[in-house]
Amino acid sequence: MKVAHNFNAGPCVLPREAVQNAIEALTDFKGTGMSVIEVSHRSKEWEAVMAECRSLWCEILNIPDGYKVLFLGGGASMQFLYVAMNLLEKRAGYLETGVWAKKALKEAKGFGDAFAVATSSDKNFSYIPKGYVIPSDLDYFHITTNNTIYGTEIHEDMECPVNLVADMSSDIMSRPVDVSKYALIYGGAQKNVGPAGVTFVIVREDILGKVSRYIPTMLDYRTHIGEDSMFNTPPVFSIFVMNETLKWVKKMGGLSAVHKMNKEKAALLYDEIDRNSMFKGTAAIEDRSLMNICFIMSDDHKEKEDSFMAFAKERGMVGIKGHRSVGGFRASCYNACPVESIKALVECMKEFEKLNS
Ligand SMILES: Cc1ncc(COP(=O)(O)O)c(C=O)c1O
Repeated sequence: MKVAHNFNAGPCVLPREAVQNAIEALTDFKGTGMSVIEVSHRSKEWEAVMAECRSLWCEILNIPDGYKVLFLGGGASMQFLYVAMNLLEKRAGYLETGVWAKKALKEAKGFGDAFAVATSSDKNFSYIPKGYVIPSDLDYFHITTNNTIYGTEIHEDMECPVNLVADMSSDIMSRPVDVSKYALIYGGAQKNVGPAGVTFVIVREDILGKVSRYIPTMLDYRTHIGEDSMFNTPPVFSIFVMNETLKWVKKMGGLSAVHKMNKEKAALLYDEIDRNSMFKGTAAIEDRSLMNICFIMSDDHKEKEDSFMAFAKERGMVGIKGHRSVGGFRASCYNACPVESIKALVECMKEFEKLNS
């Protein structure tokens, strides 16, 4: 079977065994004689998957007491709205580090005084702003820990004087996180934790119920906490694959081991970008993402972009075209991206340099 070197930004490569186990469950789910997409979500077999998945989240991320893990629909984009509706009474601050952060801020503006505390828009979001002051009267401060489009990442869990809310769509489960520093973490699953269709939310329960507005039932986190994410029919197949993906993370040795692997994988590619005269990185070095590695042709070789794209494609690289707002290339190196794929891309860059210099 042909296996591509899959560098897609999400949906993206998943652990082979998670995919394989999903194929088996599509045929016969836990010996029920039914597919996982045919069983009732109220069956004991399904409820066991939900419980296992929740407990893996708590175990792998070491989630303290007082937090709940939810599996919802609507993607991270729907969380832009949920967060503001459930938490914004008067003022909220956002760290504007890219398009996704801007979209989150736009939604919040409909609910109160929401504004950018700092922005890196002056340099097309190629760095993470530093040295800003977070006002202490905010209902919350919102960050995007990994900026999928620009290849920048906040590598440390920050100290924050107010409730810290984080969109971790593209770096969740890629490194250990001190969950106690956050009031709420959310993201679409479709990078490190499964296929599209399910959205994870980790919320500290005591921050809820503080706003004065009416919150529609489906948009109220407390509804989903009360019903263990089964107020309405959950996206069963996506949650099944998420559970299998988390089992794989645990088997790999958990987040410290996965983080070490991710640092090694990213270093291979960044070292080549920095060494190879034909390419250059686009993100500030100290803010370089371990997940999305962005690079362009160096100034003397700008006209060779299409030619390298075709060259890489011929050698099995998939999904390396950079986002239109950055251009060039983006190799997304999520947890399940094998080191062999990264080595293949590095080889391809070396070969291209040899042929063109
Ligand atoms: C950081 C970040 N936030 C939010 C989103 C939007 O996610 P969704 O498509 O699940 O709404 C994405 C999608 O790539 C993302 O990378």
